[in-house]
Amino acid sequence: MKGIILAGGLGSRLLPITRVTNKHLMPVYDQPMVYYPIRTLLTAGIDDILIVTGGEHAGDFLKLLGNGKHLGIRHLEYTYQEGEGGIADALRLAEDFCDGEKSCVILGDNIIEGSIAEAANAFRSQSTGAKVLLKQVEDPERFGVVRFTEDNPNGSIAEIIEKPQDPPSHFAVTGMYFYDADVFTMCNQLSPSERGELEITDVNNMYLKRGDLTHALLQGWWTDAGTFESLHRASMLVANSRTRSTKDESP
Ligand code: G1P
Repeated sequence: MKGIILAGGLGSRLLPITRVTNKHLMPVYDQPMVYYPIRTLLTAGIDDILIVTGGEHAGDFLKLLGNGKHLGIRHLEYTYQEGEGGIADALRLAEDFCDGEKSCVILGDNIIEGSIAEAANAFRSQSTGAKVLLKQVEDPERFGVVRFTEDNPNGSIAEIIEKPQDPPSHFAVTGMYFYDADVFTMCNQLSPSERGELEITDVNNMYLKRGDLTHALLQGWWTDAGTFESLHRASMLVANSRTRSTKDESP
């Protein structure tokens, strides 16, 4: 399975700092943000990785990551997204890289405490379709949100709604997705949303309509880091985890 990290965008919610750097190069506690999705992929056994970036600071990814060997990446590629067409627009650039294989797509600002290894293994044995990872959140209106057929996260997904004003549940679709190679046909069929972007939620709803979308609940904490508030929260969560694991290791 291939890994794709989406690290483009203008980071406008983090201005003025994103005038001089890419959001995904900013520190989250003691490491650049993009290290976290890289580690998420590596711990799931995915070491053939494409980074999709964009904007004016794309060259800095090469300075930081090089060929990725020092981080344990077996094969690292880069591509460049022009403009701000959205997540599904960025994903289209990965078609040749995937070359018919399944992929795990991670938004570059999604940081987790645990691992997605179990979900990745489940998806390796899923013959076709897609898989999303869900997490219960307090502020669902900020995310893609799931409406379940019954009021129960273990039941089936009826629909995913992007940033609903009146969320039908507290379960957000996290920015970690598994797809078969049909995802590129679907991305090419999309029309821009009201915010002028090709929405990944529309892709997930296409798989859902086809009866080919599975889901799992993510264990441990999850946060995005695209606003000052969430960036701060991400640093605090990482710092607390580090303190905890240092304590766990001490005699
Ligand atoms: C994007 C997706 C949304 C998802 C979120 C996870 O939102 O559109 O469905 O829940 O990532 O981080 P955005 O970061 O574009 O606001």
